[in-house]
Amino acid sequence: MASSPSIDIFPSAPIAPVSKYIFSGFLEHLGRCIHGGVLPAGPTNFPYTPRNPCPSKDYVETPKELLTPSGFRKDVLEILRDELQMPLVRWPGGNYVSSYHFEDGIGPKEQRKRRPELAWGGEESNQFGTDEFIEWCREAKMEPFVVLNMGTGTLAEALHWIEYCNGTGDTYYANLRRKHTGRDEPYNVVYWGLGNEVYGPWQVGQMTAEAYAAAARQWAHAIRLLDPNVKLVGCGETGVTQWDAVVLDGLADKVDLHSIHLYTGFGPRDRSQTEREFARSVYGPEAAEYAIETCRGLIQKSRLARNVSAPVKIAFDEYGPWDETVGTPRNGLEQIYTLTDALAMASWLNVFVRQSDVVALACNAQSVNVISPLMTRPTGVLRQATYYPLLLFSQYMREGTAVRLAVNGSPKFEGETLPTWIGTVKGPPNVLDASAVLAQDGKSLRVAVVNRSERESYTVPVRVALAGVDSGREVEVHELWHPDVKAKNEWDGKEHEVVVKTRRAKWTGEWTFREHSFTLLVLPLQ
Ligand code: AHR
Repeated sequence: MASSPSIDIFPSAPIAPVSKYIFSGFLEHLGRCIHGGVLPAGPTNFPYTPRNPCPSKDYVETPKELLTPSGFRKDVLEILRDELQMPLVRWPGGNYVSSYHFEDGIGPKEQRKRRPELAWGGEESNQFGTDEFIEWCREAKMEPFVVLNMGTGTLAEALHWIEYCNGTGDTYYANLRRKHTGRDEPYNVVYWGLGNEVYGPWQVGQMTAEAYAAAARQWAHAIRLLDPNVKLVGCGETGVTQWDAVVLDGLADKVDLHSIHLYTGFGPRDRSQTEREFARSVYGPEAAEYAIETCRGLIQKSRLARNVSAPVKIAFDEYGPWDETVGTPRNGLEQIYTLTDALAMASWLNVFVRQSDVVALACNAQSVNVISPLMTRPTGVLRQATYYPLLLFSQYMREGTAVRLAVNGSPKFEGETLPTWIGTVKGPPNVLDASAVLAQDGKSLRVAVVNRSERESYTVPVRVALAGVDSGREVEVHELWHPDVKAKNEWDGKEHEVVVKTRRAKWTGEWTFREHSFTLLVLPLQ
């Protein structure tokens, strides 16, 4: 029997206020993220190939008028600040941080040391270091989140870095910052990551979970003596592994957040079969929800064991669609995204909203050029299909409280082609994926729905418990749709293939969610 789905929303059953930090970003010294994205590309790194940074005959200089007085690209900065309103950005990696030494990147630029870059290959010029990053954050109106080097770095060096950023006394590194910047005020960096993916065999300085937990305890203790105002992020894995369990047991009383990384589309896809590729991407974020639910349990268990009263939240500090066969180290992890990837992005954000009581921070990886919704040329920015769900969620699902909702009778995904890590979710996933936010002023309800069926549209009664929405009221509808699930935005005339269409409609109590679409409804409550 064909199912007839409906959605019930319960504005009087709050989950938690949505954390603005779930709209955060990530900059890594990788490919054209910094040189080409944050800064104009130099002649030796456009186009960037990490292992072969030769002068390119195609190099075009970015005109001065397209740069801020500090030399940053205005276009990228303006989109992140004014359109996506990103509140916070993680830096300098990623894998890159595991061999990064902050002292190489401070002081007069001409004296900075060039270094071999061990994570992605090539060389690091160190022309963009801590002071430049903080200046960029100021101009972008973002809070900085700095990840410490737990690969080749030492605790002493980490303490020096924090003193350099936050020191207010008459001490060596605080004075060094004053000398370099000519300003007295500290940077007040609150968020610090205790290493990145330290569990990975690809990491410079891989550790066992036990060794990492022991080291991170020492680091956390010392860091809090130096600066009690910091928020520390422990290095988790995917939220469901033995690594996560051991690290949480070791750190539940020492950290504020536990990090999780997940990307959809990992590993080679079967590109000959559209349906498989589509399903693999759009249902990928199911794994994120499973990871968060599992991790929530691990956190509780560790807090109880250590008798910790303060909450430990989840920092999903790397997520996004990434097909490793397309975005490779050779091309600086550059990937052109399709509507399919955009639907995955919307589902991801639905997960973060639904899990607002435990997910305090999420960083889309990455913010420009590298597996990113934004791609640059020397004189322009391309907004990829994946940019639009981020924009809509940031505009409509940020200021308010996530509330409970039930998708009743949703058709289920019935294919057998999901990656094994999605197969761990209880039961087959719903085709209709939704979240809801009650606006801060209580006057409207925002409902985000992804129809993950490739071919079927569904007309769905959308009921708001108790309050209701009067028939005939005008509602605002934002929809991301295209007849082709592989449609993408490209340079030279195809920049606007996949864009959001906004309209107003008279409410009839139900909405038709088109096949493979993302819809955001703004429903008036009063
Ligand atoms: O974002 C690209 C890479 O993915 C990061 O450097 C690393 O942390 C993750 O594996």
